[in-house]
Amino acid sequence: MTLGIFDSGEGGKNLLRFARARNRADDVIFLCDRGRAPYGTKRDFELSGIVNENLAWLRRMGAQRIIIACCTACTVFDSVEDKRGVYPILSRTARRAEELSKSKIAVIATGRTVASHAFARAISEREVVEIEAQPLVGIIDGGESDGALSPSTEKMLRELLQGARGCDTLILGCTHFSSIKGLAERLGAELGIRHVVDSAQIGAELIPTASGEGGIDYVFKTKGGNALRI
Ligand code: DGL
Repeated sequence: MTLGIFDSGEGGKNLLRFARARNRADDVIFLCDRGRAPYGTKRDFELSGIVNENLAWLRRMGAQRIIIACCTACTVFDSVEDKRGVYPILSRTARRAEELSKSKIAVIATGRTVASHAFARAISEREVVEIEAQPLVGIIDGGESDGALSPSTEKMLRELLQGARGCDTLILGCTHFSSIKGLAERLGAELGIRHVVDSAQIGAELIPTASGEGGIDYVFKTKGGNALRI
């Protein structure tokens, strides 16, 4: 079975890391669409075009099952022309948060995801506070992560998370944010957050476990649309 994964950048790599730990038997094609990043500032029709194009490309490359490793891209899932074997991660992430929370849920996500209210619509049993954190996407694509954080990023996240006061659960509603999960957990704990739900980790659970080794191909899509295997 060949698995396809796509995202605009680091978020896909985060999901891929979890996926690899879970199942090394499947072959994986990862489309890292950096040429068109970020997705979170795109309008609906642009993003729908990108998502349908990426799915078609991964199928041409031989993917039989495809994980949309991007919450932002999942917001236009309704416009996916051929949904066969395509798994969006957003609804599963929302469900996990709903199971864990006993009070209110905060979600930090991209501009596009917050504007769509996709998480708030997917969670019916709890109040949801949506916090836009688009600038973090560029910061993470630029190389910052829990192991290499600048003080300004910590300050930014601390300020953003003030909106999560009173919530017991925080959704990292963008797979990029898995890169700074440690920071989110630390700052969240100061505010009384008990659970941090990582969309990259939840997304990887969509991949069945299997025993045995398998190969993973990384595919990097360049600006000109040429795909390179690296
Ligand atoms: N990683 C993507 C997500 O989960 C979005 C990042 C972007 O804005 O490109 O939403």
